[in-house]
Amino acid sequence: MTECTLVLIKPDAVRRGLVGELIGRFERKGLAIEAMRLRTMDAELADAHYAEHVARDFYPPLKAFMTSGPLVALILSGDQAIDVVRALIGVTDGRKAAAGTIRGDLSLSNRENLVHASDSPDSAKREIALWFPEHPV
Ligand code: PPS
Repeated sequence: MTECTLVLIKPDAVRRGLVGELIGRFERKGLAIEAMRLRTMDAELADAHYAEHVARDFYPPLKAFMTSGPLVALILSGDQAIDVVRALIGVTDGRKAAAGTIRGDLSLSNRENLVHASDSPDSAKREIALWFPEHPV
């Protein structure tokens, strides 16, 4: 089943010059880029994007990090794209993520972990509407 998912290439990846490497991994897997935009997240968008986490202890440092510089937002599509992208990026903590995944190969952190990806069809729909309001759902 073809799905769309929202991916953020986070500010640490942009600072480290990994945008091409990360997009290349998604493209080589066979996922298609439906939309792409360089943008700096502001406080309002951060609170909306991470609505389920705003009360958590880790949210203030997460918000500071995610608003610290430009990121690349993408809509990727493909067969079972939501689960496929989550598998490609690995678990949240780069120190625990499996080798071969993006975080497992390139991150040592649970905050500066390079990529965000929607975790369900409902979150994909919500996040795509937030980042690409012009995109049809
Ligand atoms: S949970 O508890 O499973 O709902 O959370 P999780 O999916 O693991 O993480 C949600 C996002 O919070 C980030 N995160 C952190 N940021 C800063 N500090 C700490 N300690 C921390 N722990 C988790 C994590 O990178 C996730 O970001 P996204 O953008 O969703 O990948």
